[in-house]
Amino acid sequence: MKKLIAGNWKMNGSVEMTQDLLSEINSEIDGDLLDKCGFLVFPPALYVTEAFKNAGTYIDVGVQDCSHNESGAYTGEISAAMIKDCGASHVLLGHSERRQYHNETDELVCTKAKLAFDNGLIAVICIGETEEQRDNGKAFDVVEKQLAASVPESANAENTIIAYEPVWAIGTGKTASAADVAEMHSFIRGKLGERFSDSENFYILYGGSMKPENAGELLATPNVNGGLIGGASLKADQFLAIAKAAP
Ligand code: PGA
Repeated sequence: MKKLIAGNWKMNGSVEMTQDLLSEINSEIDGDLLDKCGFLVFPPALYVTEAFKNAGTYIDVGVQDCSHNESGAYTGEISAAMIKDCGASHVLLGHSERRQYHNETDELVCTKAKLAFDNGLIAVICIGETEEQRDNGKAFDVVEKQLAASVPESANAENTIIAYEPVWAIGTGKTASAADVAEMHSFIRGKLGERFSDSENFYILYGGSMKPENAGELLATPNVNGGLIGGASLKADQFLAIAKAAP
């Protein structure tokens, strides 16, 4: 299984940055890197079209969220069908920033995921505990509940990617230890196994302050099939260095 190196740009960038960043990354992707990694970026939705012009053949493009409604009078929203129509292949769902700032629940994320599947998109579903939950010994309970309620029954290894992102590690420079990540990813794999016959084939990404210095160890951790990278995905050299560090 190749490692999936995914960049979540969040609300950063511009037309020019989209052009520069993607053409720089694209120009450095060679056969050796492609043997071990796949690439995916989530620019802000407005830049998806620009992203396609510069992403080349080997970088997939996704959108950071979609509406939980199919279409109609929902001002400001973007539907899963529109994302597919614009040529994107993936949609990021249930990121902790959306759960925190937009009160997204597991049930809402599940509804969005079903719409993503109906429209032929791959859903990257994010789960992860807060620092307080971890300190209170609740990390596994929280992740189990999020996984059960956010991931639809119709999920499979082809239409769903899980991203484990401990909230306390996102944008903080703090990373979960390889031992903690190994334990949680194996727990997630086990829980997927209780519901899905192809659980072994699901990609499970780790996210939270992944950078060139820690990527080698994290990406070599059992059941870590790639990374969801925020800050370090905005610099071509760092994003590429993370991919190069993959085993
Ligand atoms: P970070 O963000 O790499 O900046 O911690 C990861 C994410 O939020 O997906």
